[in-house]
Amino acid sequence: MESKGSILLKLLLLLQYLSLLCAAQDFDFFYFVQQWPGSYCDTEKSCCYPTSGKPDADFGIHGLWPNYNDGSYPSNCDPNNPFNPSQISDLTSSLQSNWPTLACPSGDGITFWSHEWNKHGTCSESLLKQHDYFEAALSLRQKANLLQALKTAGIEPSGGSYSLSSIKGAIKDAIGYTPFIECNVDSSGNSQLYQVYLCVNTSASDFIECPVFPGGKCGSDIQFPSF
Ligand SMILES: *[C@@H]1O[C@H](CO)[C@@H](O)[C@H](O)[C@H]1NC(C)=O
Repeated sequence: MESKGSILLKLLLLLQYLSLLCAAQDFDFFYFVQQWPGSYCDTEKSCCYPTSGKPDADFGIHGLWPNYNDGSYPSNCDPNNPFNPSQISDLTSSLQSNWPTLACPSGDGITFWSHEWNKHGTCSESLLKQHDYFEAALSLRQKANLLQALKTAGIEPSGGSYSLSSIKGAIKDAIGYTPFIECNVDSSGNSQLYQVYLCVNTSASDFIECPVFPGGKCGSDIQFPSF
């Protein structure tokens, strides 16, 4: 027969295990990532416009990604809570204009949003349900108008090159926080402005200085292609 002490010990171990499981779902901050469609499309692989038509020549949302301060990130946190388009049907038209898909073959966005929710959104579901998550991203997009920030500094998407530091500076001046710039390369191998990362606190409401930046480097001068 087991002693009361050993049962109690097992119970304590179980509780500790459960609390570790819960803690594993936690995260430290979000990356809010926007992409320039001109650079997404200007690659060897190219792109496909969504079924709703060519998106505006503006930055679109890529995602809102829970991240840890050590640079790693959780993913696919809850297979039991898959993307459900009916929960965000009121946001569809706003998502189509602000979070457009450019993947091939052409799609209506559901595949893109579903991937983002299942991989990233489920990792912040204890704080943001599906509708809140997409709404939070749309609201951050309104607060961070990157194209306007760049244009104010005379940086225009017309195929010219700009220094990486002038791009970062223009965004910091307008938004108040230092961005991380990710580049990709066109079919001739030129480095170009692809994605802009801003950090957001765990309420998904306010930008913060990034606790850590992703890896990867652009050249010191990068192209800003038209779209
Ligand atoms: C996020 O920032 C806002 C504004 O500063 C603040 O009200 C909120 O409490 C912050 N959330 C967290 C989790 O720090």
